[in-house]
Amino acid sequence: MKPLLQRFQFHSLLSTLYLLITICAPLITSSFTPYHTLFLSLASNSSASSHLRHLTRLPHLSSSYEDSLAASYVLSSFPFPSHSTFYSTLLSFPIHRSLSLFSPSSAPFHFSLTQIPSPSDPSSTVFSLTVPTFHAYAHTGSVTAPLTYAYYGRVEDFNKLRSLGINVTGTVVLARYGKIYRGDIVKNAQNAGALGVLVYSDYEDYAKGEAFPAGPWLPESGVQVGSVFRALGDPTTPGWSCTAGEEECERVSIEEIVRRGDMPSVPSLPISGKDGEELHKAIGGQVAPDDWQGRVGAPVYRLGPGPGVVNLTYIGNETLRTIQNVFAVIEGREEPDRYVLLGNHRDAWTFGAVDPNSGTAALLELSERLYKLQKKGWKPRRTIILCNWDAEEYGLIGSTEWVEENRELLTSRAVVYLNVDSAVYGPGFYVSATPQLDPLLIEASKMVRDPDNSSQTLYNSWISSASSPPIERLGGGGTDFAAFVQHIGVPSVDLAFGNGYPVYHSIYDDYLWMEKFGDPMFQRHVAVASVWGLVALRLADDEILPFDYISYATELKGNAKSIEEEAAGCPISFSPLYKSIEYLKTAAVNVNAEKQALEENFWGHSLRKDKSKVRELNDQLMMAERAFTDREGLSGREWYKHLIYGPSKYNDYGSKSYPGIDDAIEEAKKSNTTEAWRFVQHEIYRVARAVKQASLVLNGGLT
Ligand SMILES: *[C@@H]1O[C@H](CO)[C@@H](O)[C@H](O)[C@H]1NC(C)=O
Ligand SMILES: *[C@@H]1O[C@H](CO)[C@@H](O)[C@H](O)[C@H]1NC(C)=O
Ligand SMILES: *[C@@H]1O[C@H](CO)[C@@H](O)[C@H](O)[C@H]1NC(C)=O
Ligand SMILES: *[C@@H]1O[C@H](CO)[C@@H](O)[C@H](O)[C@H]1NC(C)=O
Ligand SMILES: *[C@@H]1O[C@H](CO)[C@@H](O)[C@H](O)[C@H]1NC(C)=O
Ligand SMILES: *[C@@H]1O[C@H](CO)[C@@H](O)[C@H](O)[C@H]1NC(C)=O
Repeated sequence: MKPLLQRFQFHSLLSTLYLLITICAPLITSSFTPYHTLFLSLASNSSASSHLRHLTRLPHLSSSYEDSLAASYVLSSFPFPSHSTFYSTLLSFPIHRSLSLFSPSSAPFHFSLTQIPSPSDPSSTVFSLTVPTFHAYAHTGSVTAPLTYAYYGRVEDFNKLRSLGINVTGTVVLARYGKIYRGDIVKNAQNAGALGVLVYSDYEDYAKGEAFPAGPWLPESGVQVGSVFRALGDPTTPGWSCTAGEEECERVSIEEIVRRGDMPSVPSLPISGKDGEELHKAIGGQVAPDDWQGRVGAPVYRLGPGPGVVNLTYIGNETLRTIQNVFAVIEGREEPDRYVLLGNHRDAWTFGAVDPNSGTAALLELSERLYKLQKKGWKPRRTIILCNWDAEEYGLIGSTEWVEENRELLTSRAVVYLNVDSAVYGPGFYVSATPQLDPLLIEASKMVRDPDNSSQTLYNSWISSASSPPIERLGGGGTDFAAFVQHIGVPSVDLAFGNGYPVYHSIYDDYLWMEKFGDPMFQRHVAVASVWGLVALRLADDEILPFDYISYATELKGNAKSIEEEAAGCPISFSPLYKSIEYLKTAAVNVNAEKQALEENFWGHSLRKDKSKVRELNDQLMMAERAFTDREGLSGREWYKHLIYGPSKYNDYGSKSYPGIDDAIEEAKKSNTTEAWRFVQHEIYRVARAVKQASLVLNGGLT
């Protein structure tokens, strides 16, 4: 009886507190409540590790039987009402891959294109279920041509080759992984005239120490699998979605997708560090620049072309498959039609211990904590939706299809999207966000203990190497926040521990790697879940949304300065942009004052009046981000509607502010025509108008 009684007392004490807090709102609820503190105390690293172990038992490529098993696991592990959405989307699988080297100095060599698992790794027993190494959506074809070496395959690397007199046309390009999105490596090579592309993991980048399983580094046979699709979502339904089972869907043909430049028109393969080195030995000609060389002891890298000739042959199967997103919903008590979304993907190239299921494990652990809060009487003010996406690896397909399908409802109701892809790569806290969330993220990080040093908070370790917390922005395209931010303008966050890891997208991304190197105590997993959950709880429970647009205005001004410097001496004026940012800042100051006044004047108003006032203010704060989107989208990349944040044109992983202005400047610098500069000015005006719209939304009244 005693424990029961204690629990009851605890319950009623909390309920009383909650009642008090609700009555005193909004004065008190704009901060952490006892429920939020309780949420932190419920962290369970053993739960996180157990979920990860289950999720990574088998490889689970999107749409495979094993992926559906993982989906069932997530569905049944969510302690809230859960459901799935299914889409019919174009995925890609390898049928035939071969690579042979013909060099004057040795006999023809046929590469095995196989990764070798360590027998001491438990995952090695099911290694045969992993997909053969390939590039998803690679072009089907066979090419026999001499090799050239193009470093990281960036635009500047091909420019360098040209300046050195190396003609890449008609060759097979050998490029290193590591600086840009692999789809852009292939595209850049194709633009330079290459007939095929081989992308390898150089020892200097991926094998700096002992190889897995003795150390964390990529074994010499390790290969980074991945997609080379350059757009988002199902390639055949750009901008809309096709539910599985739907009889008639409009679809774009593969030829059309290739013509648009979103799928390559030359074959490519990912290869290992060992195979890359073998190919280097067969390339002659000019010695490559010093910084293009490999590690000490590596053969001298030369640029080619030839004399080594390769036969690169790839046959793929692009085929419609059913993918499955999984959701759990915790309905809001007072504003059920306002959504706080938390998302992570489930599908993996191989076992996915880091990418992405460290995030899935954190999401499930977090959901258990929320369930315990619910048992103690908590109910969120707004609706919380936990999302588990499929087919992220192929091109952010699950999240993008869902956002496209639900675009109008999400546009009017989504408060925020909080993404975690891989929760843990290693040490160090990394945060990206739209800037109105900066202050909340900083506050939350002060509440969570540093998993690597219990005598300080996460905030202390986060700022240890900087004067202010380094928060990145969400212009890059690498993970599931893209559709939310860049297509429909929902304020978003992306969280992780660590920043990249050497066994990325290889068969070695498994439970043993995580247990030995990524997070031996699973304390980083729970630290991510703590920040993730705490930020979600504040956004779901605060009477007035904890958004601060002053930090947005400051950020926009800083970005404007850097792009202006980039364009120094060019015949364009940034003053319309600066002027609109001033409007935004004024509006942000006013809305913050309004928020404060609402809190201070609370006792003088009737509850009813305050409720509608609060709702109005929240709508201003929620919708201001939407105003940064533009119906027309970025010029030539219309799916991207956000004019402040979008990916760089030549590197999907590269984050850009003002991508439209940036693209236009690049073009104008090349052509230097009056018309091109006028277009840059047009893009500046367009962004300025969007920023002005955002300030009008924040002001909350018609002109
Ligand atoms: C490169 O080679 C191709 C064909 O081999 C040729 O058509 C092209 O003109 C060359 N480009 C340069 C810049 O020499
Ligand atoms: C290249 O290799 C493929 C086998 O994968 C073979 O069918 C093709 O004939 C070869 N091409 C040449 C030109 O040797
Ligand atoms: C391509 O994949 C589909 C399944 O989605 C399968 O039915 C078909 O046989 C595959 N084609 C080849 C050539 O393997
Ligand atoms: C742990 O944090 C404390 C307090 O910030 C600091 O003094 C100490 O140096 C840290 N220890 C390590 C190993 O970083
Ligand atoms: C959980 O953390 C505790 C304390 O850091 C540690 O002793 C334990 O081994 C961890 N559990 C797991 C499953 O890693
Ligand atoms: C661009 O064109 C203008 C005149 O039209 C000229 O003054 C300027 O030097 C040119 N700039 C470059 C970088 O070629």
